[in-house]
Amino acid sequence: MTRIDPTSSGSAITDPLGVPPFAVISGGQVQRVLQGQEKEIVELVEATYRLHGVGDSVNPPSYFLRFPDRPSDRIIALPASIGGPTPVDGLKWISSFPGNVAAGIPRASAVLILNDHDTGYPFACLEASIISATRTAASAALAADWLTRGRPRPTRVGFVGTGLIARYIHTFLAGTGWSFDEIGVHDLSGDSTAGFHSYLEQSGTIGRVRVHQSAEELVRCSDLVIFATIAAEPHIREVSWFGHNPVVLHISLRDLAPPILLAATNVVDDIEHCLKANTSPHLVEQLTGNRDFLLGTLNDVMTGRVTVPADRPVIFSPFGLGVLDLAVGKTVYDHVAASGELHVIDDFFHELRRHG
Ligand SMILES: NC(=O)c1ccc[n+]([C@@H]2O[C@H](COP(=O)([O-])OP(=O)(O)OC[C@H]3O[C@@H](n4cnc5c(N)ncnc54)[C@H](O)[C@@H]3O)[C@@H](O)[C@H]2O)c1
Repeated sequence: MTRIDPTSSGSAITDPLGVPPFAVISGGQVQRVLQGQEKEIVELVEATYRLHGVGDSVNPPSYFLRFPDRPSDRIIALPASIGGPTPVDGLKWISSFPGNVAAGIPRASAVLILNDHDTGYPFACLEASIISATRTAASAALAADWLTRGRPRPTRVGFVGTGLIARYIHTFLAGTGWSFDEIGVHDLSGDSTAGFHSYLEQSGTIGRVRVHQSAEELVRCSDLVIFATIAAEPHIREVSWFGHNPVVLHISLRDLAPPILLAATNVVDDIEHCLKANTSPHLVEQLTGNRDFLLGTLNDVMTGRVTVPADRPVIFSPFGLGVLDLAVGKTVYDHVAASGELHVIDDFFHELRRHG
């Protein structure tokens, strides 16, 4: 990284302890780097889970900023640090305002700040709703791959909740080689269902698209079930709906009542993270007073430390780790920097002489 030398009136040098230039990377730039790179991003996410699994990361609990007068809104801070070949520190700051959707703008908005490993200086601010959706979808596709090994590969996928995250997950499944005989969709909103339906048509997906009037019908008809709703508490309570042992990607984390998890094999991304904030796994821990219902993490599955039985439903509940945002964000930064298209904000760090 080229840095600014404060002793020479701001000229750029390569001193490792100079001040890095500060760049802003737009959503358009982020999307141009990530589009069509589904396989590569899934590999990056897998490598990052492995780094996190061996402890080469710092990923403290996410901080939830909530508002007494706006209970359905929140802004979450996800600080993190990753080691490995390209160490970087940083913070994702992501808002969820569900009321935005009715106004025609996305629920979530976010920035990602990258901090320099050597000086701590922030060196980039990236539009991060795309990064966040991308890492979430890549993690879901990775889990779908690993959790279906050892059982027949699903041919019927079903999406409960068909917003932006559902679209990204479908794109990542398709981009990593999945095809389905049938794609089930269910949403409480007719607009969301219609929007996702038309996305599927435009994406050129093969397979029959089937709109289900109930979550029960969708779950019973799918061997890979994806929950991407905004439910704040469990609305799916019937254990018998899962009697055909589907693989469930429980991305929205709060849809399923404890008895469903207790009758299934449970895999998370990080145990400490996931057993917080009234997620369904957290509700099970509160109910049972223990963590015996957890098989382990996705990394445990990938390293062979645990084996997923084929004769029970398996539920993946990923809390969403800041290290994934950092890994994807750093890749975007490196690509934009290499292409010479970084928008550097001149004079961003200005007061650089300690005594004036
Ligand atoms: N685990 C993670 O790492 C992670 C990361 C990003 C987003 N998420 C979660 O993914 C979820 C979806 O995000 P999004 O950006 O797609 O939101 P979105 O608002 O675009 O879409 C959510 C959809 O769910 C539908 N819905 C709400 N309640 C429902 C119900 N009970 N049954 C069926 N449909 C229902 C809504 O009508 C809407 O269409 C959110 O809960 C978000 O917090 C998780």
